[in-house]
Amino acid sequence: MDFDTENRILPSDIPSDATDFGRRRVLSVLAASAAAAGLSPLSEPAVAQAARGLSPAAGASKAPPVPPFKRNARWSVTEAPNSWDDITTYNNFYEFGLDKSDPYEKAQAFRTRPWSVDIAGEAEVTGRFTLEDIIKPHALEERVYRFRCVEGWSRIVPWLGFPLGDLLKRFRPTSRAKFVEMTTLLDPRQMPGQRTGVLDWPYVEGLRIDEAMHPLTLLAVGLHGRWLPNQSGAPLRLVVPWKYGFKSVKSIVRIRFTERQPRTSWNVAAPEEYGFFANVNPAVDHPRWSQAKERRIGAGFLAPRIDTLPFNGYAAEVASLYRGLDLRRFY
Ligand code: MTE
Repeated sequence: MDFDTENRILPSDIPSDATDFGRRRVLSVLAASAAAAGLSPLSEPAVAQAARGLSPAAGASKAPPVPPFKRNARWSVTEAPNSWDDITTYNNFYEFGLDKSDPYEKAQAFRTRPWSVDIAGEAEVTGRFTLEDIIKPHALEERVYRFRCVEGWSRIVPWLGFPLGDLLKRFRPTSRAKFVEMTTLLDPRQMPGQRTGVLDWPYVEGLRIDEAMHPLTLLAVGLHGRWLPNQSGAPLRLVVPWKYGFKSVKSIVRIRFTERQPRTSWNVAAPEEYGFFANVNPAVDHPRWSQAKERRIGAGFLAPRIDTLPFNGYAAEVASLYRGLDLRRFY
């Protein structure tokens, strides 16, 4: 879809907290190396099936029970998590509309099983893998993270997932893999927002490889002990707790290792407003509002806003990744 500057709407064009409260690749997989990595690429017929987008009656699989998991205290904050309703009825997922209630209201019929993920680019193991292949070898853990949207709201989320780095290592990135690009499903039939020119679809995000490999960077498959609901980015979404929420790309179908910095959706749409790094930084204002404070969802509109912390409170863990980088210029 061509980028349509006429119809373009930026998150910042929408009445936000910060302003007024109002509001592919063929299976060229080395089978041997895939097997060595504990992965079995999909067969062609299965790929074709997944690509056709079968109706639920014709083949959508039911989600299995969530396996047992433990909370990882090392990587969890002690603040009380927001409720399931707080986390799943007020969302940004522009593929389903621009209002915060749209994802909850319009994503319920979205089919997230069967699901597959393409692994591409600078890695020894590439190909298309089922969701089950992606998840299975990893022990799921709960991590309670702070989450800060660039619009000025925040919440505390008990994610269920596993470190992205553990998955990436299975594909054996080459020395040329300097970045990781992640892409959301493109399916305008299922995603009404993709029939509009709000963004240049599909939604793309990316990280530098060291950010992607950082132990805090999570691939989430659930929250509050349940599988992710569709509006939260089922069946697989990224969570990078020290960055603004728009880096946390939802419903991922492709992971590509690249030598060059990926062209990410919001950075392309409005480079002066949304940097590639997007590290939470109360000292660098958005061009149209301050980032010094945030509104905690669920606290009530009258509750005083709280201070936003550098790197969203994760400076001790991640500030060293950016040594020597001017974070006022490269935000
Ligand atoms: N991913 C996709 N594919 N589409 C989106 O519109 N919005 C981003 C991010 N990931 C978005 C996305 C933004 S702006 C935010 S703040 C978070 O998702 C919101 O995640 P949540 O709704 O689960 O809280």
